[in-house]
Amino acid sequence: AASIAALTLSAGAAFADTMGCDGDEIVVKFAHVTNTDRHPKGIAASLLQERVNAEMDGTMCMEVFPNSTLYNDDQVLEAMLQGDVQLAAPSLSKFEAFTRQFRIFDLPFMFANIDAVDAFQASDAGQAMLDSMQRRGLQGLGYWHNGMKQMSANVPLELPTDADGLKFRVQNSDVLVAQMEAMGASPQPMAFSEVYGALQTGVVDGQENTWSNVWGQKFFEVQDGTTQTDHGVIDYLVVTSVDWLDSLDADTRDQFLTILDEVTVTRNAESFAVNEEAKESIIAAGGVVRQLTDEQRSAWIEAMKPVWDQFVDDVGQENIDAAQAINA
Ligand code: LMR
Repeated sequence: AASIAALTLSAGAAFADTMGCDGDEIVVKFAHVTNTDRHPKGIAASLLQERVNAEMDGTMCMEVFPNSTLYNDDQVLEAMLQGDVQLAAPSLSKFEAFTRQFRIFDLPFMFANIDAVDAFQASDAGQAMLDSMQRRGLQGLGYWHNGMKQMSANVPLELPTDADGLKFRVQNSDVLVAQMEAMGASPQPMAFSEVYGALQTGVVDGQENTWSNVWGQKFFEVQDGTTQTDHGVIDYLVVTSVDWLDSLDADTRDQFLTILDEVTVTRNAESFAVNEEAKESIIAAGGVVRQLTDEQRSAWIEAMKPVWDQFVDDVGQENIDAAQAINA
């Protein structure tokens, strides 16, 4: 057991970009699943780490574990409640075991673009959702943007009927399962770290994700192409445990939350550009990117939008109306 512990420790130290924490500092482990380069979450997490370690030196010390090296998204929230990790930023699709309120973000064609997502999150309803899991021990600290989702497969996708009969990896979300079923496709929930292999070996035929994830995970290498559908959104909740936040003294907590808020504003303003850059990188690397005609896009909307009816009771008609008013 001792040697396994030593191995785990040295592996952890190798993966975390740690500056070396002092014994009397509060150690904040931040586990996430994406790459760090040319990725909205990866860049934001690195900036947060840099600022906390520079400005709170001697008080707090942050270690970031990217690329699912510490936990995948299915494990991280339980680990957080156990006190094994203090910070995470899973996509809003991954809180189903804790709340159904975030389902609004998974509904296809609910938000016209990332600015509309931002405006909804900034509203009273969006801000109240940060507190929706307190009873379950989790505290939302803010929303980090990724961007709009695109659709890829091992065949060209131009109309939703092209997806008929194909297997698509989805995040672990009932809304996304229903969305794929609405196209006649077969949804396969799967951890993010397993998607490349599943696409490569044909366990699944396709997937949906943002440009930064298609680039970061190299999905384009094992797909016929990626179609710019912008049909949904991947956004993140920066989350911690109620207990851990309560354990901080007021000054430390305020300084930490202020830095986090500043990083959130700075990096959210860049998320669209980061995804555009990733799209260009895919094209430059020989990946195929397809655009839809207005007519084709209407067909995707028509196929997917009926999914809203299945989840109205979970998300609230008033929230759907608010989101639509923002789009207008
Ligand atoms: C996914 O599982 O596809 C995403 O949630 C990964 C991420 O964190 O962007």
